[in-house]
Amino acid sequence: MQHFLSIDDFTPAQVCTMLKRAHALREQRRNGVPNEPVLAGKTLAMLFEKPSLRTRVSFEQGMLELGGNAIVLGQHEVGLGKRESVADVARVLGGMVHAIAARVFNHEHLEELAAHAGVPVINMLSDQSHPAQALADVLTLMDEFSPGNPEGLKGRSVAFVGDGNNVARSLAVICEKLGMRFVIASPPEFELTAAPGICELVTDPREAVKGVDAVYADTFVSMGEEAEKEKKLAAFKDYQINDALLEGVAEDAIVLHCLPAYRGVEITDAVMDGPRSRVFPQAHNRLHAQKGMLAELLAK
Ligand code: CP
Ligand code: NVA
Repeated sequence: MQHFLSIDDFTPAQVCTMLKRAHALREQRRNGVPNEPVLAGKTLAMLFEKPSLRTRVSFEQGMLELGGNAIVLGQHEVGLGKRESVADVARVLGGMVHAIAARVFNHEHLEELAAHAGVPVINMLSDQSHPAQALADVLTLMDEFSPGNPEGLKGRSVAFVGDGNNVARSLAVICEKLGMRFVIASPPEFELTAAPGICELVTDPREAVKGVDAVYADTFVSMGEEAEKEKKLAAFKDYQINDALLEGVAEDAIVLHCLPAYRGVEITDAVMDGPRSRVFPQAHNRLHAQKGMLAELLAK
């Protein structure tokens, strides 16, 4: 059974298939043609240990548009690993729904769900990775540099400026799968780990963005890191994406952010709302990317 826990679990060809399906489903929708109900009769249970806007709406709306159904479950009602063990939650849900999506603090809980559910498990963000976001990020890069054709992104470059976190890790992996260069600028203490050989690690944001096709930002303080907020904000004070930093990028370079953004902290208003910004099409692409992935994973 195929789960969607990490981009690592997929071959480059499988990643391209999901992206092409996402693109095709979006074209159909834009032409006013309803997508075929390939997930009719299928239900996705969605467990959230953390807040969400984009992920929740894109998965729920995506299931609906493909003819399926979604049930959203908050941590206050499920108590994953607290009210009930992770394995037992998986065993119960696995007998009632066709797939389980979860946003968790601890990536191991996703692996435990996958081990016991008997149905596909989908990562909606963990401390380790955010693969659903990475698909939408690449769809946005395709829109700019290689419409409909993920293979055409080979040789393009992305500079991530900030924390070596879940979003950075999935983006690094998907870039490597598609033959893109991925460089990340972080303070040494917050370097991207567990990604040896697939990306360039630097400390100077100006060095990272030199000549790249896309510059990427995420919050400096992820959900669950509130206690470290002051320390992290101090460490990242020179890592803001602003107009001065963008002087070094390629002429047609774009700016991405997974959102939510802390305007004036990791990115300025001028950049977020400026001509290079693709952050809102990128957010909308969550819907299409999730549909491409759900269709490939669950409709077979
Ligand atoms: N980018 C992202 O995953 O947004 P949410 O946290 O709102 O789902
Ligand atoms: N790195 C952020 C991403 C939010 C979508 C977090 O984990 O909070």
